[in-house]
Amino acid sequence: MTGKLRLGVNIDHVATVRNARGSAYPDPVRAAKLAEEAGADGITAHLREDRRHIGDRDIERLAEELSVPLNFEMAATDEMQAIALKHKPHAVCIVPEKRQEVTTEGGLEVAKQENRLAHFIAPLADAGCRVSIFIAADRAQIEAANRIGAAVVELHTGAYCDFHAEEKFDERDAELERLRDMAAFAHSLGLEVHAGHGLTYDTVKPVAAFPEIMELNIGHFLIGEAIFRGLPDSITEMRRLMDEARA
Ligand code: PXP
Repeated sequence: MTGKLRLGVNIDHVATVRNARGSAYPDPVRAAKLAEEAGADGITAHLREDRRHIGDRDIERLAEELSVPLNFEMAATDEMQAIALKHKPHAVCIVPEKRQEVTTEGGLEVAKQENRLAHFIAPLADAGCRVSIFIAADRAQIEAANRIGAAVVELHTGAYCDFHAEEKFDERDAELERLRDMAAFAHSLGLEVHAGHGLTYDTVKPVAAFPEIMELNIGHFLIGEAIFRGLPDSITEMRRLMDEARA
C-alpha cells in the first residue's frame, strides 16, 4: 500500500469565530486558501442544519474558489442533498447530526437504515461525488457502509482522543487497536479508509501510521493552534508529524 497520507483541513471553526460576533471576519474561505498554500490536500467544511458555523454562501464560495478538493460534510437530509447536487463537491461525507450536540458525537448508524441511505447516496455518487460515511470503528457499520455502495468510510477517532485527554491509557490503547483492526477490515472490503475527529499533535501519529488510512480530516485543534503559531505553521507541523508517522 499506498501513497501519501492526505490531510484535509476542516475550517468550520474559523466560521464559529466569525459568527460569534455576526461580523464578516474571520473569513473561512480565506483560511481555506491559506491552508491550501500551507500544504492541505483538501478542505473540509460541515454545513450544519442550524448553520452555526459554515453558511450556504461559504459552501458556494469554497466550491467555486478552491483549487484542492472540497469535502462537504452533511447530514443525510433532503436539504443537504440538494445543496450537494447543486455544487457537486469532490467528496461528500455523511455524518449524523443532532441539533443539541456541541460536535458530531458518534458515527452514523448505517446498519439500521441501509435502504434509506443507499437511496440517499446513489444520486450523489451518480453526480460524481465520492461518498464517504462517517462511522465508529465497528465491523457491522463497515459492512453496512460497503453494502450501500459507499466509496469511503471515515473512522471516528473521537473516543480514542477523549481517552487520551482523560489519561485513560488502557481504554485509549484498546480503542486504537480497534481502529487499526477496522481500518484493515474496511480496506480488505475495497473501501477507501479515512479517519478524523479530535486529533491533535499528541494523538495523530499512531493513527497516521496505519497504512490503510489514506486521509485524515482535522479541524478544531488546528484552528485553535493557529491562534498561537499562525495557520500555515499549525498545518505544517501536523503535516510533519503525519509524514514522520508514515515513514
Ligand atoms: N471528520 C468528520 C466527519 C467530522 O465531523 C469532523 C468535525 O467536523 C472532523 C473530521 C474534524 O474534527 P475536529 O474538528 O475535531 O478535528
